[in-house]
Order: sequence, then structure tokens, then C-alpha cells
Amino acid sequence: MEEIKRTKVKELLKSTPGQDVIAKGWVRTRRGNKNVSFIALNDGSTINNIQIVVDMASFDEEKLKKITTGACLCVKGRLTESLGSGQAVEIQAQEITIYGEADPASYPLQKKGHTLEFLRSIAHLRPRTNTFGAVLRIRHAMAFAIHKYFNDKGFVYLHTPLITASDCEGAGEMFQVTTLDLNNPPRKEDGSIDYSQDFFGKQTSLTVSGQLEGELGAMALGEIYTFGPTFRAENSNTPRHLAEFWMIEPEMAFYEIEDNMELAEDFIKYLVKYALDNCMDDLQFLNDMFDKELLARLKSVVNTEFVRLTYTEGIRILENSGEKFEFPVSWGVDLQSEHERYLVEKHFGRPVIMTDYPKEIKAFYMKLNEDGKTVRGMDVLFPKIGEIIGGSERESSLEKLEARIKELGMRRDTLEWYLDTRRFGSAPHSGFGLGFERLLLFVTGMGNIRDVIPFPRTPKNAEY
Ligand code: 4AD
Ligand code: MG
Repeated sequence: MEEIKRTKVKELLKSTPGQDVIAKGWVRTRRGNKNVSFIALNDGSTINNIQIVVDMASFDEEKLKKITTGACLCVKGRLTESLGSGQAVEIQAQEITIYGEADPASYPLQKKGHTLEFLRSIAHLRPRTNTFGAVLRIRHAMAFAIHKYFNDKGFVYLHTPLITASDCEGAGEMFQVTTLDLNNPPRKEDGSIDYSQDFFGKQTSLTVSGQLEGELGAMALGEIYTFGPTFRAENSNTPRHLAEFWMIEPEMAFYEIEDNMELAEDFIKYLVKYALDNCMDDLQFLNDMFDKELLARLKSVVNTEFVRLTYTEGIRILENSGEKFEFPVSWGVDLQSEHERYLVEKHFGRPVIMTDYPKEIKAFYMKLNEDGKTVRGMDVLFPKIGEIIGGSERESSLEKLEARIKELGMRRDTLEWYLDTRRFGSAPHSGFGLGFERLLLFVTGMGNIRDVIPFPRTPKNAEY
């Protein structure tokens, strides 16, 4: 007889009854009486479980006692049509091997309905819950769709460095990377730390963005994207900020701001549609459990045109809104999440792409408009999230860029290589950064960014 191989639960649930199969997975629940036991087995391939039917008389009682929630099993048996409601097929167990027991007295995932806060405290086990299984499968599907989208468009995936000596956003929110002895660092005559003796011979940090190196790629390969972890040492304890998050940053030669906006809108709609087309079981679960409007919201985004609005127009709307904001608005202020959400959720009722911000509140590399006051930045603002994308057309003039760097008092010596893009064969170009976890907040409907990444890094928290 041919040896049977393990079949994943996702496949089993679609298979025709009448064949002998092997399933492997973790026990979610077990119920029954003294004659028959029903085990719900899950192997992570789908939100759905396969039901294992155990005839108590055919198995050793001591062994059956060890089949508790969390235990890992290998089950051989016959796939049969299920008479019970809720599933088409089930497995009539013939042989059961217990790979690993899970002591009911100490396994923390006993009952259903643990709070998300509690699950955060056991982030090493939470992938075994329905919720995190769903979120992590959607996270995977979105990562795959991102590569597919850009690959289909002929973009080159560029790997930009994680350790860098430059501060892309100029916000000083960088984690230092050093091998110097922090208790006794070498010092220069003036008392400052002598980084020439450090590992890289200069002061280095973890990157806040791959954009600057991405621009080098765009000015050679035409259209590139990066997709990697970025790091921000900003002490923001909010449901939308992580100290380590993943960012997707396309950068395109010959794109002006309008082309950039079009790409951003098309990209997000493609990803949301991909989720609807490929992750429906998981989305349906999240819709039922957490957010009854999730599916409706996702479908609506795919089908609506994003509003395009200048910062100046946005400020006018906010000023005339009659709304009492925690942070008052006037031309020149950086918009807070409450302002962004007012525009998106209350005023327009759909996503907004805001452009032409005051140069003072944006990074040095953005293209200066003719008015000399605003820059061609663009933020995509989303319901429930606020800013999901930040980007701009880049300043392509060497003189203007040099002037801006000087004006801001930035260190030029760490940016000479970047200025070479403007010195040699400069061209109009644009790009943006999509926060991967912000996208996932939107797609999963989860309310806290700590719940859409396997192991969140936030102030005072670097567990696992
Ligand atoms: O707006 P940001 O700071 O833009 C940049 O870094 C540009 N260099 C991108 C580019 O043009 N290539 O960040 C981009 C996006 C934000 O819109 C947000 O979605 C996300 O990154 N983001 C964060 N996500 C989670 N936690 C944080 N602390 C984040 N900071 C930014
Ligand atoms: Mg931003």
C-alpha cells in the first residue's frame, strides 16, 4: 500500500470523503461524552479546524486523557462526510500519536475570548489563537501581494541598508549602533566621543527610512521599491506607532507628484482588493469578531476615488468646522491624527491625499513649490488610521537642495553621496513610504498596531 502523507487542514476541508488521510496539528477544543469525543484540530493553514471523531472504546483511556487544548497530534483516519453542522468533512480516527502534551493547569490559552491585552503579554503563544492566525496569514498575503504588484509593474526590489550614517527624515529619532564601551567610550580632546574608534569609524544608527538609498536606485534602474524594517526612537505610546516597523518605499524616476499620487492610490486599492479576493475566511472572522463594518469598509475603499486636497484647503475646512480639537489648527501647524480623521471620516467620508505642505513641517528632500513656502509632499490619510502613506516629489535641483540643507543646519558631510544624484544626471523623481503595519491595521480592522506584528517593539518593551 502507498504510504499516506500528511495533508494540511485547508486541503482536507476541500477533499472528497472516502480516503484515508493524515492530519497534524494542535488541539483547539475537545468535547464529547463517554462514547465519542470530538476534537477540533488546527494546523495554521486556515482559520477553520478539522473535526476528529474518536470512538472512545477503540483507544486507550490514559492516552485520551492527554488530548487537551494545546496538545499537538498526528491523526490517521478516514475522511468522511460530516453529519454535524458546520463542516462538510471530518476524520474518523484510527491512530492517534501525541507529539506534545499541553498541561491544562499551565497552558494559558484555555478558554475562548481572551482579551487582546492579555494576549499581548503572551505574544509567543498568541499565533495559536484564531485572531492572530488570521492576522498573520493576512500579513503574509499582503507582503506577497506587495512584491507581486511591483514585480508585475517592472519595479526592482532594492535592498537598502539597515545601518546608516545619515538621518533621512532629519527628525533625530535614531537608535545608535555602536560597539564602543558605553561605560568608558574613547573621547576626543574636547571631551566629545571619538567615533573614529567605533566599529564603522563614524557615528551610525539604525535607519528610519530606505528612501535616500532608494533614490540612488531610481536614478539608475528607473523604478525601484524597498520593503524592510525601519526603526524610530520616538517616544510615542500610541496605537499607531512602533519603534520597529516595516515600510514599503517605491521610488520612481520621471514621476511628478501627480504620478506619485496615482501610484499610491492604485497600490493601496490593489492590496485591499487582493485581501478581499484571497483572505476572505480570515477577514470574515475578523469582521464577525471585532469590527462589523470591516468588509464594507474594505469594499468601499476599492471603489471610491480618493479626495485630493491641498494642506491650505484642508486647514480652511478644519478652521471652519466648528469642531473643538485638542490641538488647535492654523496654517503652519503639523496635522494631528484627530485633524486627519476629521477630514477623512466626518468631512469627506473617504480617503484623502493631502499635498503642498508648509516646508517647515516636512523633510529636507521635498521639492519646493513656486510660492517658496510649500513643498510637494503628499500624505495619504485613511479612516480610523490617519496617515498611512507619506511621500513627495523630490527636489531635483542641486542648488535648492544645498540651500535647504544649509537652512536646516543639517550635516552635509554625511550626505555628499546623496547630492551626487543631483550633481550627475538629475531628473524629476518621486516616491513614498507605506507603513506596512498601518496598512494591516486598515485591512484587518484591528485597533492597535501591537496586534498586527508578531513581536511588537514599543517604548519599554522588547520581549522575545
Ligand atoms: O511619513 P514618513 O516618516 O516618511 C518617510 O519615512 C519617507 N522617507 C517615505 C518616503 O517618501 N520614501 O513614514 C512613512 C510611513 C507613514 O506614513 C506611516 O504609515 C509609517 O511610515 N510610519 C510608522 N508606522 C508605524 N510606526 C511608526 N512609528 C511610524 N512612523 C511612520
Ligand atoms: Mg509622515
